[in-house]
Amino acid sequence: MPARPIIIDCDPGQDDAVALFLAMSSPDELEILGITAVAGNVPLRLTERNARVMCDVAGRSDIPVFAGAEKPLIREAISAEYIHGETGINGMDVFDPETPLQSQHAVDFLLETLAGAAPASITLVPTGPLTNIAAAFIADPQVIENVAEIVLMGGAMREGGNRTPSAEFNILADPHAADIVFSCGRPLTVMGLDVTHKVLSTPERVGRIRALGNPVATATAGMLSFFHRYDTEKYESDGPPLHDPCTVAYLLRPELFETRLCNVAIETESELTMGHTAVDFWHVTDRPRNAHWVHEVDADGFYNLLTERLARFANDR
Ligand code: RIB
Ligand code: CA
Repeated sequence: MPARPIIIDCDPGQDDAVALFLAMSSPDELEILGITAVAGNVPLRLTERNARVMCDVAGRSDIPVFAGAEKPLIREAISAEYIHGETGINGMDVFDPETPLQSQHAVDFLLETLAGAAPASITLVPTGPLTNIAAAFIADPQVIENVAEIVLMGGAMREGGNRTPSAEFNILADPHAADIVFSCGRPLTVMGLDVTHKVLSTPERVGRIRALGNPVATATAGMLSFFHRYDTEKYESDGPPLHDPCTVAYLLRPELFETRLCNVAIETESELTMGHTAVDFWHVTDRPRNAHWVHEVDADGFYNLLTERLARFANDR
């Protein structure tokens, strides 16, 4: 079976970085056409640099990396250095990467790649604010038909929110972009906090990854350990939730997850609930069922997959 062509749109961020590593570990199943960076956890100049750092660490400088939007479509930018650290990938040694930054803007790369693709052929994997994706859909709505599906990390239902009581960071950071993406009409699978808060990087799980000993696993363990300090205090849990790699794990092993097709709408008016994902889980409205909302996960199965795939990287980098 040919590898699935994907584009990962991200704001690294430690969890984005692990999602990149998981995708890079599986070239027989996932063909990464490009990585597009967006401002989010930290400013764009860092998210694009961090994406290229991960390409270096994984020995995948063949993957083109593009810088995209520096700010949301309409609102002012928000960021999350208090969680991710000033580099965005605290917990690993940061360096100036050899992987080059492409001169083409990320949105132009998205447009060019989608426009030249066959119908329903390319999977988009956004793990940050949806600004780049929405900007491409606004610029040329015809490219939307060439999207196979969108598997994104964002939103919350029972978990409420993490940046506000009612909104998760990626959606809140650019709710207008999210509204465009959630209304685009293509198959959408949404990994919200309801599922990612069940995927906890406990010391035992991080220890198994650290024991692999290759540079990718060592970087992963360091980043997950740094992540630990904020989330575990906030949620009083045994480890921080590992959000973004759930998207890639879904592409590799969808049977690890349970989804429900329902309507998901985005709040773009009220400042109190800005960026809220209104998930019609019990189908109480007749709004179109536009998203596969992910609500259950085999967390042990997820970490077994992640650990097994990270073990594939060479020790001699
Ligand atoms: O709310 C969690 C999400 O926001 C993750 O994607 C994290 O990397 C940040 O982008
Ligand atoms: Ca992210």
